[in-house]
Amino acid sequence: MMTISNGLLTLHTAHTTYQMTVDADGRLCHNWYGCKTEENLWDSRPTHAFDPGCWPDQLPLECAGPGLGDNRLPSVLPEYADGSRAADFRFVRAEVRPGKYALPGLPNFRLGSPPNPQGGFGGERSRSEMNETCRLRRGEGYGACGDDRQGAGVETLAVTLRDAAGLEAELLYSVYEDCDLITRAVFYTNRSEAPIKLHQAGSLCLDFDQQQLDLMTFDGVWAGEHLAQRRPIFSGVQSVGSTRGIPGHAHNPAAILCRPDTGETCGDCWGFALVYSGSFLIQAERGEAGIRLTMGVHPQHFCWTLEPGESFAAPEVAMAFSDQGLGELSRRFHSAIRRHLLPPRWSDPEAPRPVLLNSWEACYFDFNENKLLELAQAAKEAEIDLFVLDDGWFQNRNSTEAGLGDWTADPRKLPEGLPGLCKKLNALGLDFGLWVEPEAVSPNSDLHRAHPDWVLEIPGRETLEIRHQYNLDLSREDVREGIWQQLRALLDSCPIRYLKWDMNRSLANVYSAALPPERQGEVYHRYVLGLYDLQQRLTRTYPDLLLENCASGGGRYDCGMLYYSPQIWCSDNTDARSRLGIQHGTSYLYPACTMGAHFSTVPNHNTGRTASVEARMALALSGTFGFELDLTRYAQEERQELAVYVRWYRAHGALVRGGDLYRLIAPEEADSGGAWMFVSPDRTEAAVFAVGTALGDGLRPRLLLQGLEEHAVYADEDGAQYTGGQLLRQGLPLPGAWGEVPGCIWYLKQIERE
Ligand code: GLA
Repeated sequence: MMTISNGLLTLHTAHTTYQMTVDADGRLCHNWYGCKTEENLWDSRPTHAFDPGCWPDQLPLECAGPGLGDNRLPSVLPEYADGSRAADFRFVRAEVRPGKYALPGLPNFRLGSPPNPQGGFGGERSRSEMNETCRLRRGEGYGACGDDRQGAGVETLAVTLRDAAGLEAELLYSVYEDCDLITRAVFYTNRSEAPIKLHQAGSLCLDFDQQQLDLMTFDGVWAGEHLAQRRPIFSGVQSVGSTRGIPGHAHNPAAILCRPDTGETCGDCWGFALVYSGSFLIQAERGEAGIRLTMGVHPQHFCWTLEPGESFAAPEVAMAFSDQGLGELSRRFHSAIRRHLLPPRWSDPEAPRPVLLNSWEACYFDFNENKLLELAQAAKEAEIDLFVLDDGWFQNRNSTEAGLGDWTADPRKLPEGLPGLCKKLNALGLDFGLWVEPEAVSPNSDLHRAHPDWVLEIPGRETLEIRHQYNLDLSREDVREGIWQQLRALLDSCPIRYLKWDMNRSLANVYSAALPPERQGEVYHRYVLGLYDLQQRLTRTYPDLLLENCASGGGRYDCGMLYYSPQIWCSDNTDARSRLGIQHGTSYLYPACTMGAHFSTVPNHNTGRTASVEARMALALSGTFGFELDLTRYAQEERQELAVYVRWYRAHGALVRGGDLYRLIAPEEADSGGAWMFVSPDRTEAAVFAVGTALGDGLRPRLLLQGLEEHAVYADEDGAQYTGGQLLRQGLPLPGAWGEVPGCIWYLKQIERE
């Protein structure tokens, strides 16, 4: 719901309110973002700081320009034709529109998802068929990926502001009332008669009048991504960001602000996720007037020229507030991402995701068709749905040193090509999936020899190889068309049901031969737009294809990529202890149904550590379940034991994908334990996972559960019964920890309700 009255602009979701005021000077000021309220909170602000005509440095501005009295972080940095770099935005008009704004070329939250498509991958088509052997059904349609912009329940507030020298900012706010989510995007338009250069074009500027807030970010390294970090916002500016052209492993384009006393189940917190997959900057500045948060495309390497009449669309930010702690904030994001961001084809939790086996850790580059078929046979015995052939399948690809760009099968490894392999896999009852890295080219490849000019390179400089590869210039239409033709040829060559789209380096030498020198500041962003264009073509042309994005693990794990691919490979590290921290951190904003998670062997290939089967399964089953190990080394009985977990996922995967997540015990510094659970929206089912020290060392013999119905009786799979009240207050009895990294998985079903 939205209202505009007497200069007061109010957005209501089911439980929150976002309120703005046009002050006496026509500046758009932020009043309030928090619990739902009908009050006009502008009136309640201290008058000394917010009197009309007061110093702009004190005003909570929704769109801040530089150089005219507001000396905090700006939203936008324009340079006018006369060389001046200043802006002060004043209100022009506001209107409420039905439906969602469109952001041409940029992913953004959708209106909604079509109802559950029938049929599909694997055997998880009906909950009542649980534990039945999986039968594959191929070639069934799922309904179109509709993306109608007019839809029930979503409204948009459009506020137009203008700077006297001619830069206009149209702030767009869409409200997803039922999910407590608000999205915001900005169109910057040149209303002057001469070109304007934008040196920064931010997506979000939000002022908080509190002095004490904590900032949470999700940081890490390759093989240790998205670890939650929380620290007080101190005086001055602190930031996380990326200048790599992809978000990268070091920082995720999302952040949470919360009060110092906010915890998992109580307290105020605000979450923000940028719907963008390139270089980004998140800054929090604490100064005299409180705290300002800004988010957007990173201004380094950015300079965008707007000719008169032209607009620049700044990527969307999705935001939510919770006064019930971080757990509730996460659940609000999860439900919004599931319902409004993921490709509709895959967004319904009941729509099965295939259980896959990925060949990477089983084979690396060393395989031939026989080896793959042996692996596939073993996968079939473990009742797996889909066989993914990872890196190494194409010409000259026996290491990272060659082959990228030449997407035809190596006849020495696959004498009958991909169609031959696919046919044999299908005959075994497995679907076929494939790895590609379409944005890259090896210097040693036919593609590079044919089109040396397709790479990003700065004239006169040596082009940097990272992982022995160059970046293709996705900002160029002709290069994209070349890549698209290659992808089409691949996908049309045989029934490929799944594609893993990898990206194994950051951008460098960013310069496009197709743009004049003065437009080179646009290339980083145009690259991201080019990536989106390709993924849009892919998902439109192959609506049934399951796309999994990846960037050396979780280097490009963001709401932008989730618009195209419902799952992203969360990390190259599959060690259970490492995954505790990685998946825990990822879960603050992103739902479990987006996290690529595989069961792998021990000792783990990344860490050399061991963990129990149950612990490894607990982590893998809490994401998009799959396997990544050489199953031919497992005895037939062992494969059949693994099949029990595959059946568990078929029966309860929808609960994990669509349930409410409760983080029960956070992994400690040493990643030695953790516990979490998923509860079905009607609270009749729950899946509980505990790993490592969370299983109790005598000091914690029970695990307090959350989210269940107090006056109901739940039974576990062994028939033990508990009331909801017992589980919520006394806890689930734990078996106690034994051995190295033990794990436990419970499925609870409500059997009685008062
Ligand atoms: C990246 C991915 C891995 C694997 C390799 C193949 O590192 O994250 O999962 O696909 O590339 O080279």
